[in-house]
Formats: sequence, structure tokens, C-alpha cells
Amino acid sequence: MKAIISNPPFVVFDAETIERQYRRLRDYLDQAYPKSRIFYALKACYLPPVVNKLIKIGCGLEIVTPAEHAIACHFGLKSDCILWNGPSLGIETLQGIAERGEILNVDSPWLFHLLEKLANKLGKRVSVNLRLNPSGEGRLGMPPDQAESLLKRSHGVEVNGLHVHLGRGRRFESIALAEKQRFLEIAARWEKDMSLRLQSINLGGGLTVGQTPEMTLGSLIQQLKQLRSTPELFLEPGAYLVEEAGTAYARIVSTKTIGEARWAMLDIGANFLIPLDRNSFQIVGAGPVGGTDKVQFGGPFCFEADIIAREQPVTVEPGDIVRVVRCGAYTESLSSYFFSAPPRVFWRDGDVTKELHRKTSPVDLFLAHHGYPVES
Ligand SMILES: Cc1ncc(COP(=O)(O)O)c(C=O)c1O
Repeated sequence: MKAIISNPPFVVFDAETIERQYRRLRDYLDQAYPKSRIFYALKACYLPPVVNKLIKIGCGLEIVTPAEHAIACHFGLKSDCILWNGPSLGIETLQGIAERGEILNVDSPWLFHLLEKLANKLGKRVSVNLRLNPSGEGRLGMPPDQAESLLKRSHGVEVNGLHVHLGRGRRFESIALAEKQRFLEIAARWEKDMSLRLQSINLGGGLTVGQTPEMTLGSLIQQLKQLRSTPELFLEPGAYLVEEAGTAYARIVSTKTIGEARWAMLDIGANFLIPLDRNSFQIVGAGPVGGTDKVQFGGPFCFEADIIAREQPVTVEPGDIVRVVRCGAYTESLSSYFFSAPPRVFWRDGDVTKELHRKTSPVDLFLAHHGYPVES
């Protein structure tokens, strides 16, 4: 590891951190609501050892595309461990889901009606969950009144569960809990007024990384326990399981001051450390922590959004190697060949650290990705 550290930039994903996060959540659920299952939101990180680890310790997969389904198949997951979301699943995809009996959260009445036609064609009843959008925020799920009208239909598609997930980020943070509380109120009302029997309630992802599961889920589970049908609880965490498992090592290449702002420029940037408003990368420096000298960290690219972290209380010197922590989620999976190839990636499991899928130099990778010939 020492030889690797002197040669940044690179990223390490750590098996023990993933297992720790999973155990925290599983242990909490085992005492608070044992009838529950965890489906890892695959989009958070696709790296094979990460996904393999999560499946081995007990997760199913939450997926959205046929490409993600191919990963679930690669790991030999059974149909009841594969859970689909998605606002624009095509007819062939829906047919495959129905035939294989995988779990499906239906995003719109349009998709529900497509499924009715499919059920008719296949001559079998199809069981689904409805994805609700109680607040009217965002573009995913369906308003409760539209969903309610689907409960009354009996054209081969049976509603057995309800789902809610609101994206993370500044826009949704303040309403996330209220959204889920409202969702559970609706579920209770439909049990009573519509005789809906709920086999599952899915509270989506969005578990806050730095908090205990009890803090994010405690009050919701109390509410869930009031439901008559005692449904199974499904959760779809992404970041909670993998964000803290990823650490980037990068070198400070240069420093400068613009106006009041002190900047340190690193050799890793927005083709891996994606500037999403949900991400919260933090810098751990080589030198002493603290002081009044708060530093902004940017990446190497000529692209204003290439900002990694602001107001970091660390001492910076060009040449120092720093760690960028909390970068395991929505980084590798969104990485691109913008400006250069993404950084080298390593997998650490206990004492063993190995490099993943790098067969050629970063420049050759970059050239090949953009369609240029590469010698050798
Ligand atoms: C439907 C759904 N479930 C779960 C997740 C995972 O969210 P998080 O990583 O915030 O836990 C996402 C993320 O976009 C999602 O769209």
C-alpha cells in the first residue's frame, strides 16, 4: 500500500467499511422490524467486488435498466432478490420482469396499463407495487389520486405493495421525512377504505450516511407498525452502504488565492468526483487540521464545476498528498472520460489490496474510449 500511496491519483474501496454499514442497518432492523429486506441501489457503485460483497452479506439489488439487470444475472440473483424501478421501462423489459417474477415498482398509470395488456397476452396475473409521489415534487412516481384509481381495476395486474423514494440533495432534504410520513398515512387509509392488503412497503433509499438508522427510520417504523397487514419492509439504500467505503488519494499540484478565496488544485477531479449536489466530499490533509485558513479544493480540469470541497480546515502545501473521503457513492458509477480517464481503482479487503480492471495506461484508455487508435 505504501508504494501505491506515493503515486496518486487513485481511489480505494474498502470491504470492511461496506460490511460495517450493512451490519449497522441489518442489526437495527433485526430488533426494530425483522420482517425486512435490504436491496442495494446498484446505481451507487457498480464495481464487481463492491456488489459481490453486498450480495454475499445479504442484499438484493434495486435496478433500473436492462444493463443493470445483466449485473444482477452475472451474480446469479434469484428473481425475488431483484427489484425494479424506472419511469420508462420498455415493453420487452416489462415482459421479462413479468415472466421471471421479479419485483416491480410501477412508476406511472401508463406503465400499469401496459402491464395489463401484457398480463392479458401472457395469460397470467402480474403482481406489482405502485411508486407514489405524495408531495408532487420531482418527476418520479404517481400522485396518490391516480394510484388510487388503479387499485379498483382488476385486469390481471394486482397491487400488493407501495413504494416511495425522493431523491437526495438540497432540493428534497427538508421534505423527505414528511413525504414518507404522508406515504404511510395514505397506505393506512387505503388498507381501511380500499381493503388493500399490503405484502410490502418500500421506503426507498436516502438513509443519511452520518446518522444511525434509528435516527432516519425510527419514527417511520413506529408508523409502519400501525398498518394492519404487517407488510414486509423493503429498503433501497445506495450511498448509506458505499459512500464511506471510497477514499481518493490525490496530490496538491498548485495553490493560489482569488479574492478572499484560497484554492488548492488536485490531480483528481470531476470525471470521478462528480459535482452532484448530493455528494459531500471532505478533505483530510497531511498537515495539521484547523486554523482560520479555510481552503477550497478544485480538480485539474478547465471546467468551473470541477470543485471538490469548499471551506476545508486543512493546511495545504503543493506536493502534499491528501485524502478525499466519502467518495464511494455516485462516483465510479458516473465516472467519465471527460478530459482524461478516471483514476485507478483499488479494492482493499483486510490486508490485501488489489487494483481493479486497469489493463492499459490512462492516456491509452482515454484515447480508446473516444475512438482513437491505440498502439499495442
Ligand atoms: C428509486 C431509488 N431507490 C434508491 C436510491 C438510492 O438512494 P440513496 O443512494 O440516496 O440511498 C435511488 C437513488 O437515486 C433511487 O432512485
